Amino acid sequence: MFLWGTATAAYQIEGAADEDGRGPSVWDTFTHEPGRVRDGHTGDVACDHYHRWREDVALLAGLGAGAYRFSISWPRVLPEGTGAPNARGLDFYDRLVDGLLAAGITPVPTLFHWDLPQALQDRGGWLNRDVAGWFADYAAIVAERLADRVRMWITLNEPFIHMAFGYGMGVHAPGQALLLDALPVAHHQLLGHGLAVRALRAAGAGEVLLTNNCTPVRPASDSPQDVAAADAYDVLHNRLFADPVLLGRYPDLSAYGIGDPDGALGVRDGDLAVITAPLDGLGVNYYNPTRIAAPAEPGLPFADVGITGHPTTAFGWPVVPDGLRELLTGLRARYGAALPPVYVTENGCSQPDELTPEGVDDQERIAFLRDHIAAVEEARAEGVDVRGYFVWSLLDNFEWAEGYHQRFGLVHVDFATQRRTPKASYHWFRDFLAAR
Ligand code: FCB
Repeated sequence: MFLWGTATAAYQIEGAADEDGRGPSVWDTFTHEPGRVRDGHTGDVACDHYHRWREDVALLAGLGAGAYRFSISWPRVLPEGTGAPNARGLDFYDRLVDGLLAAGITPVPTLFHWDLPQALQDRGGWLNRDVAGWFADYAAIVAERLADRVRMWITLNEPFIHMAFGYGMGVHAPGQALLLDALPVAHHQLLGHGLAVRALRAAGAGEVLLTNNCTPVRPASDSPQDVAAADAYDVLHNRLFADPVLLGRYPDLSAYGIGDPDGALGVRDGDLAVITAPLDGLGVNYYNPTRIAAPAEPGLPFADVGITGHPTTAFGWPVVPDGLRELLTGLRARYGAALPPVYVTENGCSQPDELTPEGVDDQERIAFLRDHIAAVEEARAEGVDVRGYFVWSLLDNFEWAEGYHQRFGLVHVDFATQRRTPKASYHWFRDFLAAR
């Protein structure tokens, strides 16, 4: 059965940052530092989903999508990151799961969508190898509570973006700009993923996935320099996070002047066997392809020169639906039999939505979704085993460094009143699902 759904993440929607024993996460710290997020926005309140989840489940039920991907806040469950769980935090997800099931919706929780407990950041965050074990302990606690009702689980969301934006460039929490010294963050996340897979299976989880951010990489020209630069970028963004999981080895990093990838990443004996534990699916989040040229200056071995000649979203991201077909068929070509079933766990766009008395007439979003779903169908027709598609996002929400400026939802949220208004795209998706 093909899973249709929508996706959200804890810090982006829940709010209730101080309630019921929740501890601070790196995103609470980061958003409260001046200059980090556009206009100083924070997720303190966000969509107030923590209190309004019943209304949001009703919106999901009205949509008729069979699945809902959400994330669990680690600091709500373990305020200090480790130790004794916070019962009220677990209770929240227990209620949410029961509410979803009662509405006939399959819950698909993600265990880590970037909101590391600050207490663990104080111990080095994902630069500290010990976090991998702490993550597995947390996974076990959550699964113990929910795996009797939750079949499908996702360990991490987009370890590349978390490493690159959070630790490489410092534009996301925890705000460190270590460039290539951030590489151990890749390995520690993947080691945590592998240990969590074990913990989830031990607790009875049915299906376990990892979600990666994936981009098809296009060289700016046929020149050997641009082709080599594109290959270097592909290694960092895509292969670094899929090869070890699917093939059991890290890719060659010589384009980065690194002769011994395992040394640079901090790999120890036995780690890769943990990381390559079989998966039931690979989650891929797709937003756009990337166009890469040889760099004009020394430093990193690539330059992102942007895709031109396509419409763009409010974020300025190019709209290239065929890139999703290219990505899915490219994954199959690269990994062959090692590729598990694929789930598109995020796809969507921010648009300059305008709320009028008639609602939000977001025709660009409708076209975006229609064309990307068609690209998934083409990839399936070409033989790629795609088993799900989740729209990012159910609700307008806190879009990380952009605060509330980028609206991705099928449902408009007025952040002053918390009023939800389904957009034209919500009605379109509902009708699309009903007709299948
Ligand atoms: C992805 C994130 C998600 C959301 C979208 C727009 O990288 O996983 O939380 O912010 O981008």
